[in-house]
Amino acid sequence: MEKCIELAKKAEGLTSPNPLVGCVVTDEFDNIISTGYHRKYGEFHAEREALQNLKKGDGHTLYVNLEPCTHFGKTPPCTDIIIEKGIKHVVIGMRDPNLKVSGIEKLKEAGIEVTCPVLEDECKKLNEVFIKNVQEKKTFVAIKTAATLDGKIATSTGSSKWVTSENARKEVRKIRNRYDAIMTSSTTVIADNPTMEHRKKIIIDRELKTDLSSKIYESGEIYVFNEKTDKIQNNITFIKTPVKDGKISLEFVFEKLYTLGIMSVLIESGGKLNGKALKYADKIYHFIAPKITGDNNSKSAFDFRTITDINECLNFKFDSITNFEPDILAIYYPI
Ligand SMILES: NC(=O)c1ccc[n+]([C@@H]2O[C@H](COP(=O)([O-])OP(=O)(O)OC[C@H]3O[C@@H](n4cnc5c(N)ncnc54)[C@H](OP(=O)(O)O)[C@@H]3O)[C@@H](O)[C@H]2O)c1
Repeated sequence: MEKCIELAKKAEGLTSPNPLVGCVVTDEFDNIISTGYHRKYGEFHAEREALQNLKKGDGHTLYVNLEPCTHFGKTPPCTDIIIEKGIKHVVIGMRDPNLKVSGIEKLKEAGIEVTCPVLEDECKKLNEVFIKNVQEKKTFVAIKTAATLDGKIATSTGSSKWVTSENARKEVRKIRNRYDAIMTSSTTVIADNPTMEHRKKIIIDRELKTDLSSKIYESGEIYVFNEKTDKIQNNITFIKTPVKDGKISLEFVFEKLYTLGIMSVLIESGGKLNGKALKYADKIYHFIAPKITGDNNSKSAFDFRTITDINECLNFKFDSITNFEPDILAIYYPI
């Protein structure tokens, strides 16, 4: 199953709105005789890729991280080819969260032994975006921030290049690639003029304050949520958005992203937008540099309210801490 997960990850950023799936086929002596993974949306599912070149009876056990599908989508059902190729045992990481799918029952009806779940937590984490999309019909929202030990992301004057090292920033580019789009704010575009290399970019710019010659507009498919206009100009789609308490309605934004087929988004902005978006966040990537600004007026990673009682803190659960020398990356989830 670990090998299935490793194979599935090769297609990170390419399969949306489909899940990441890897497949391993072994003979009766447990030797791996074929592997496959879902390479790209619209292409073969992992099971079909692993089985297509095998003759009936070659494979004994098939391992796959997600329950095989039973429906005709862009490709025929995976259960059919598993049955056709005479597989005797199917080992599945997790059930498909999509209720339309009943692959396990179909395989059992065909007399195939089924083992499920196996490494379920790891398999669920691999497809956390897909699970949210299917179960809640909502876009998965992640936030990335890069802060000092005292939780600051920029000085009071907006100086922020760079809080973290090149090593950490290289990892950010990999993280970005896993998401359908990245999102930032007018303030960050104006302060940093970032490029934020990505195929799809979302900018929250209520008053259309950003200069269209800023680097961020140079490439990609861009959506600008604003209060003024609905229009398309070259690669930029301006979306007129309701305003709540003087700010763009983030609820509208995230609902709209789902209807645009943007299944996951990584927010990379300052503390104000990060803070307001926390309510919608499914996951946080928090880089920490071993530095202290010591200046309370520096900008905080999350800045959206005033509290007096420490028990009012929002609570999270750490998932992992990884070194990107000299920095660390803490990944955590809301509880
Ligand atoms: N180290 C890092 O990880 C990192 C990453 C990015 C940026 N930065 C730094 O962060 C600084 C900017 O931080 P910041 O906190 O001042 O600004 P910010 O969070 O980047 O953006 C604030 C803007 O977001 C919009 N916004 C704020 N609250 C909102 C809400 N409730 N709903 C919808 N939209 C909302 C507003 O845009 P409108 O004015 O259009 O309404 C506001 O101007 C910059 O200096 C930049 O260098 C650091």
